[in-house]
Amino acid sequence: MDHVLISDLKKHLGQKVKLKGWVYNSRSSGKIKFLLLRDGSGLCQSIFFKGECDTNSFENFSELNQETAVVVTGVPREEARSPGGVELGAESFEIISQSVDYPITPKDHGTDFLMNHRHLWLRSKRQHAILRVRAEIVAAIRDFFDGQGFTLTDAPIFTPNACEGTSTLFETQYFDSKAYLSQSGQLYMEATAMALGKVYCFGPTFRAEKSKTRRHLIEFWMVEPEVAFADLKDNMELAEEFLSYVVQRTLKNKAEELKSLERDTSGLEKVKGAFPRIHYNEACEIILKENPKFVTGDDFGGTDETIISSKFDKPVFVHNFPKKIKAFYMKEDHDNSAESLSVDLLATEGYGELIGGGQREDDIQKLLDGIKEHELSEEDFSWYLDLRRYGSVPHSGFGMGLERCVAWVCGLPHVRETIAFPRLYGRNKP
Ligand code: 4AD
Ligand code: MG
Repeated sequence: MDHVLISDLKKHLGQKVKLKGWVYNSRSSGKIKFLLLRDGSGLCQSIFFKGECDTNSFENFSELNQETAVVVTGVPREEARSPGGVELGAESFEIISQSVDYPITPKDHGTDFLMNHRHLWLRSKRQHAILRVRAEIVAAIRDFFDGQGFTLTDAPIFTPNACEGTSTLFETQYFDSKAYLSQSGQLYMEATAMALGKVYCFGPTFRAEKSKTRRHLIEFWMVEPEVAFADLKDNMELAEEFLSYVVQRTLKNKAEELKSLERDTSGLEKVKGAFPRIHYNEACEIILKENPKFVTGDDFGGTDETIISSKFDKPVFVHNFPKKIKAFYMKEDHDNSAESLSVDLLATEGYGELIGGGQREDDIQKLLDGIKEHELSEEDFSWYLDLRRYGSVPHSGFGMGLERCVAWVCGLPHVRETIAFPRLYGRNKP
């Protein structure tokens, strides 16, 4: 490479270098012209002084429209007030290609406009910070499980059956038959857990959710660990250890990005150690004090989750949901057959359900009853039932939605900015 990256500029103080990037901003004030350049690795303020820089560059400075691609030559020097603590004493620039009438200007644009220009919106500082936090969380997730003896056994996207209820299935043609886009890799992880003990999958999942909320995407990434010979308690311990690692590592490695997002991280600092655990009935009592319309036995709405989480300064586990509101595979609690060994983990600060999971039903007869009650086809699940025919053991797992985690860690009001190209109800472009 004949140029250096902005992120490496500190290593080249006092040496003449070339930077290649795009114009983020430019302004003039008499004898000084300021060019804020971005190159993907960071932002750099370049200063053109009349008399000190090339005359042509000084005179043609106004050609440097927003997002023009450019090569800038100059000498980096320390400057505490500049991004990254370095500024470039510029000598000259050379335009690689022009950008005329870039649609996203520093003025305020509505969300819809920005979403329509998502392919360009990604060039802004805020989006860089969010995508870098996302990448760090992805790396932390993989490192956690890889480092704990889990084997990555990714699940298929085309599936013959529902995992999380038939109402949110995307149906598609699969040659002469039908297939569905995966809602969760869980059932496949149960199979690979019986083969390899501790496994996980991490990939895109799909839900045809006909609702516009700040927490729902149509296509989202989910990480799903599954462990053989593990019960509900083991599952909660795994989830709290996992989430603590992910959050603390991201706070450490992406402090600068979180600062640029103006994230107050004092709440996230507390996300470690054991998390509080409450029974579903206890959660209902908490909700009823503030939302008397809530009906015990029902699933929680977003506001109900916020009521619960506001009582704790760490994420909180709610376990033992009624069997009838949970998926067919949840294990029945043998002390109370109306309850399931299910668990949700609610994030702090009103971010709602971050993790959902539980112990799986390992009794084939109970599983068959569940399949019938949920009006699912026994034939479609015959392979899954085999897992209970040949050496069935207690096992547990959970799923965490990546985008919910990113929104929470970054403190974003909506999940739409947590993924480069979000798929939302009513939006599949660009
Ligand atoms: O609670 P869910 O539906 O659980 C499952 O799919 C289980 N099969 C997982 C398992 O046990 N292996 O989804 C798990 C998590 C939720 O807690 C939430 O974080 C996220 O996935 N999630 C969504 N995120 C964004 N948009 C949506 N539409 C989501 N639906 C679920
Ligand atoms: Mg759930």
